[in-house]
Amino acid sequence: METNVTEVADNVYRLSTHVPQAGPGGFTFNQFLIVADEPLLFHTGLKMLYPSVSAAIASVMPLEKLRWITFGHYEADECGAMNQFLAAAPQSTVAQGQIGVMLSIADQADRAPRSLADGEVLDLGGKRVRRIDTPHVPHGWDAGLLFEETTSTLLAGDLFTIGGEYQAQTESNLLERAARFEDMMPYTCLTANTAPTIERLAELKPKTLALMHNAAFHGDGEAALRELAGFYRERYEAPRT
Ligand SMILES: [Fe+2]
Ligand SMILES: [Fe+2]
Repeated sequence: METNVTEVADNVYRLSTHVPQAGPGGFTFNQFLIVADEPLLFHTGLKMLYPSVSAAIASVMPLEKLRWITFGHYEADECGAMNQFLAAAPQSTVAQGQIGVMLSIADQADRAPRSLADGEVLDLGGKRVRRIDTPHVPHGWDAGLLFEETTSTLLAGDLFTIGGEYQAQTESNLLERAARFEDMMPYTCLTANTAPTIERLAELKPKTLALMHNAAFHGDGEAALRELAGFYRERYEAPRT
């Protein structure tokens, strides 16, 4: 398995692995590495991807310098390899939202995690990430995202998920393929709060959307997120039978 590395914003690296056997056309798993005085990883990837993801990090910076291990919610592709990374980087700490730490991470992580409040900023030295709680968006009570303020990059996790293989970066519209995937594999927990939560993310006006299962999007992140919110609002008001 090969993990490709692309710098999608200044010192923000996308680590991308296509897994052919994961569904029809395969499935692609992306992690994001923010290089700063205190380097941060968003998503660890599956346990089985650890050898290639850690090698990809080591091609950018020394793996043992990793300081923060973060992810959107507790699920194998988001955090399956967290304990392998904790072992490889002795100074590293898992940082997750308060609900996630309480529900799973305090028990599952091999070292004590750092709990992040909604809106709390981690100053990485050269980069700054803000934790934003997004309960049940797209799924999981513990769900949340990070916004890197110096590059206006939203680490947007599973939003806009599609299957298959695609280029590393895009400026093209995301919704059509993402809507088709959602209709085929309804991964989003549709509630009255889905659209308003995504609209709150739009207010950040991100320039880059760093997506876990899609190309990194450059352009009007606010418009893209509002369009996504509109799609979910429609689905919520007129659910498919
Ligand atoms: Fe997920
Ligand atoms: Fe995911």
